[in-house]
Amino acid sequence: MACFFRRTIAAKLGRTLQQSEDAFIPALSAVPVFKKQQTADFKLSISTLRIRGMLPSSGDIQLQTEGLASRLEQDSVVENISAGRGVINFKVNRKLLVQKMLEPFGKDEDEKFALNSELFNTLKRGTTLVEYSSPNIAKKFHAGHLRSTIIGNFIANLKQCLGNDVIRMNYLGDWGMQFGLLGAGFSKFGCQEKLKENPLQHLFEVYVQVNKEAEHNEDMMQAARVFFRQLEQHESEAVSLWQQFREITVDEYQHVYKRLGVHFDVYSGESFHHHQAQEVVQQLHSRGLLKTSEKGTGVVDLSSTGDMSSVCTVLRSDGTTLYITRDLAAAIDRKEKYNFDEMIYVTDKSQANHFHQLFHILLAMGHSWADRCEHVPFGLVLGMNTRRGEVVFLEDVLDEARARMLHNMNQSKTTKEMDNPEDTAEKVGISALIVQDFRGALQSDYRFDWDRMLQAQGDTGVFLQYTHARLRSLIRRNEGVEAVTFDPSLLLEQTSISILQHLLRYDEVLYQSAQDLQPKHLVNFLLKICHLIASAHRELPVKGSSQDVAQARLRLFSGACSVLANGMRILGITPVDKM
Ligand code: ARG
Repeated sequence: MACFFRRTIAAKLGRTLQQSEDAFIPALSAVPVFKKQQTADFKLSISTLRIRGMLPSSGDIQLQTEGLASRLEQDSVVENISAGRGVINFKVNRKLLVQKMLEPFGKDEDEKFALNSELFNTLKRGTTLVEYSSPNIAKKFHAGHLRSTIIGNFIANLKQCLGNDVIRMNYLGDWGMQFGLLGAGFSKFGCQEKLKENPLQHLFEVYVQVNKEAEHNEDMMQAARVFFRQLEQHESEAVSLWQQFREITVDEYQHVYKRLGVHFDVYSGESFHHHQAQEVVQQLHSRGLLKTSEKGTGVVDLSSTGDMSSVCTVLRSDGTTLYITRDLAAAIDRKEKYNFDEMIYVTDKSQANHFHQLFHILLAMGHSWADRCEHVPFGLVLGMNTRRGEVVFLEDVLDEARARMLHNMNQSKTTKEMDNPEDTAEKVGISALIVQDFRGALQSDYRFDWDRMLQAQGDTGVFLQYTHARLRSLIRRNEGVEAVTFDPSLLLEQTSISILQHLLRYDEVLYQSAQDLQPKHLVNFLLKICHLIASAHRELPVKGSSQDVAQARLRLFSGACSVLANGMRILGITPVDKM
């Protein structure tokens, strides 16, 4: 979409400065639509050209800007070239802008249009392993796991849309002393019926009870240790109980993930790697990286001076491994199995140090690919409660979002005409959760607010869905009107130009998101589309317009609708057609 113009301007620059045109592509950007009247469409940053060595970096930058601007010739595509402060502005021919931007939408409903951008050529493509969600069996699925789930899903969608092979992995907390407690506690507090009826709830109850018991009952603790040892030694009775806990938990989660529109290619977990973790300890030992601390634990020295002022414990004094040891083993195993080009872990920021240490040790072990591992940290969610109180299970949050949304929808009459209002309420409710979560920088904490996130007006997921549904309904009502061809000269009003200028930025926004893995750029971009569309509904009516004007306007609306839907899907939102 935007490529044609970027390419034309880059070619012009290449000719004038006698350099390869490709090099200019990243220095050009579409001008964000702030005010309604925006004359320039693209701008070229002179300082970027200086930094990249494409212009001499000495001398007055403004003189240089004006000098270059005056050497560039205007033509039938680029109608106006002018110097601003340190930038050169380009205005493209209006009719061509309309035509080139809306052309792709006439052919089919292909959602892949953004992929063709040459901007993405500079991105490295390959296999990306994204690990996200990763809850702990029998423990609470807290707000952090919800954040990890939706953020990881967004990153996986984005990477996939940019042409990577993506492996989506869930790394369950399915090993460790908690299973000793759970196993030992189950014989005392557990019940197979309840387990079948409501597995997550029941496992959690047992876990809470057994922990309470173990606080004052040493026998319980002892039984837990025995059970865990049996598990580590693969004794069949212990293993089969553990397996049952794991399987039913995964089944339950899969059900909830489906509601969220999230799936995983692989369900792995800490349990997969407890054997390999011992091998990792051996490797650390043979590389001379394993030291024994005063307490008798096995540690790796992370200090730069070698004085053990900063260490990471990888082995308990009783010879059992830890969370980090299993992560070391898991990372090495994943590299062998999937040969990823990059690996991304999504967890709350309290684990930043853990991942820092993980990558550090992997590098020290000679795994240079650890440089291509990344931790994406996020902040806390404050005050996530439902009417029933504090949130324990993900399902509670989804139920509440759906119930509240349904309640809001029941005020409107279109809801009564819907086939399945619950389903719509669910999808819209989830988009509200996602947009609230994605609006700010991921590292920031935020306050969870049901009322604010479910507002129909204002920058919410409901607003995105509402705009999409309204566009779809407009398109549906005019099914016979839309045609393969349309007359671009009928879309020259500023309202329409602003929308197209804004759409010029879509590939840049995706590009930027791929750089820093932050969803806020895309969220803000889509909200802006919705605001522009709201004005367009008022100012560019389809109903009552002549056939050719109606056709042109419909093309504009369906183009905007496709981009909106495409962007929403990348965020992990399923666009609804009616609401
Ligand atoms: N299960 C962990 C938790 O709930 C998150 C796992 C993160 N991933 C990892 N490879 N350590 O805190």
